[in-house]
Amino acid sequence: MGNTNQKIKFYSGENIPLELHKVRIVQKLHLVPIERRLEALYEAGFNTFRLSTKDVFLDMLTDSGTNAMSDHQLAAMMEADDAYAGSQSFDRYQKAVEEVLGKKYLLPVHQGRAAENVISNALVKKGSVVPMNYHFTTALAHITQYGGKIEELLYDEAYVINSKHPFKGNMNIEKLEDCIQRHGVSKIPYIRVEASTNLIGGQPFSIANLREVRAVADKYGIRLVLDASLLGENAWLVKQREPEFKDASMKDIIQLMTGMADLVYFSARKLSSARGGGICTNDVALFKELQPLIPLFEGFLTYGGMSVREVEAIAVGLYETLDETMICQSPQYIEYLVNALDRKGIPVVTPAGVLGCHVDAMRVCEHIPQTAYPAGALAAAFFLISGVRGMERGSVSNQRDEDGNETYADMELLRLAVPRRVFTLSQIKYVEDRMTWLYENRHLIGGLKFVDEPPVLRFFMGGLAPLTDWPEKLMSKFREDFGDSL
Ligand code: F0G
Repeated sequence: MGNTNQKIKFYSGENIPLELHKVRIVQKLHLVPIERRLEALYEAGFNTFRLSTKDVFLDMLTDSGTNAMSDHQLAAMMEADDAYAGSQSFDRYQKAVEEVLGKKYLLPVHQGRAAENVISNALVKKGSVVPMNYHFTTALAHITQYGGKIEELLYDEAYVINSKHPFKGNMNIEKLEDCIQRHGVSKIPYIRVEASTNLIGGQPFSIANLREVRAVADKYGIRLVLDASLLGENAWLVKQREPEFKDASMKDIIQLMTGMADLVYFSARKLSSARGGGICTNDVALFKELQPLIPLFEGFLTYGGMSVREVEAIAVGLYETLDETMICQSPQYIEYLVNALDRKGIPVVTPAGVLGCHVDAMRVCEHIPQTAYPAGALAAAFFLISGVRGMERGSVSNQRDEDGNETYADMELLRLAVPRRVFTLSQIKYVEDRMTWLYENRHLIGGLKFVDEPPVLRFFMGGLAPLTDWPEKLMSKFREDFGDSL
């Protein structure tokens, strides 16, 4: 399994990603007229989570549970062993976890945040502090739910949107030492590292950095927990960007990373392109500590709230994570889109990371203050003029502090996710085209305000409204420039 894709050169000299798979099942999409898209936006409270896919053309909301499965995954699903307890599907899942992630003990959970709930329930107490490279929304929500706090310990470079740094997800080792000394070891149940740090633009960490984090964890006797939801892509980028590993196999890189963690958890909606999750470890005491929580929150220990069909798909998907031709498709498409927009001067997070292309709404909408949610506004505007649904990853996705005050995000991003093996290059070019038009007309985008704000994870179901009639004006300009085009 060499890095086949890297070796295919075009006679024309063009540098475009070439898929090493073919499409065998298709789903019809709906590109509805802009007038309908405007109505849909009002119905959805200007929150792209609340749109129905019947109004969405390209669904770039997330790469979670929206990836194309392989023929082998679908075949395995047909063989699933329906049993409440002792399902052979679970045996196959466990074997895959051991062979791919190198961990013997597996606890199945229904998705990534369920793992976060179980881990936080067992390990986080009132007054706990969890140092991490950066938070993910659900990880933070669970830690705070159990009375803990987090400290984010990235290097300054991570916050530089337009950068060439290959590993912006690295944890700042000096800050980690300082955090441990300030709070004391007894307050720190574990250090959390997230592969391909989601909220700063899907940016990876290096093995060199993880080794340093491990050394600090050893020095103080603190556990290291790895969020491996985006592990496959992080490993692939290590191979591309960290010279020591350019000839290493995906398996070696993955196991080097998981081997340094005491506990690994993941959303199988991303890792393995299926739907579900898992927690795994080689530490039997830790395993036993978490085990009773699975039947309590998730389901019996051999299905963990998942359909056995999904359990089979995860097992096969984990093995496929070792195949570079499978893993490289999404990051290469992202790189294509990021570089195309960057060349046109449209501010995007660079270098290209994983999960999606992240547009810098703080700069695209520099006329919109953070109090009026520039990333939410850009997400709504982009859906309006393209039918492409992205996700706000800015202050709307932040949670209020203990006193109920707004906390503004470090970055205001519109995330355009590229689910694995789903889109074609012409669809990506459409995204590039419409984003270019929107960037040229960015002054027409206006702000948003909350009209219905849920207390927890408000971005999922919250309702917003435009501060002025900017959506109508943007639509008129679209009609002026595109005529009767969809
Ligand atoms: N950890 C990371 C790094 C994630 O990206 C996600 C989900 C989770 C944990 C939670 O997993 O959704 O299976 O409960 N990220 C999705 C996203 C929701 O769109 O980025 P889950």
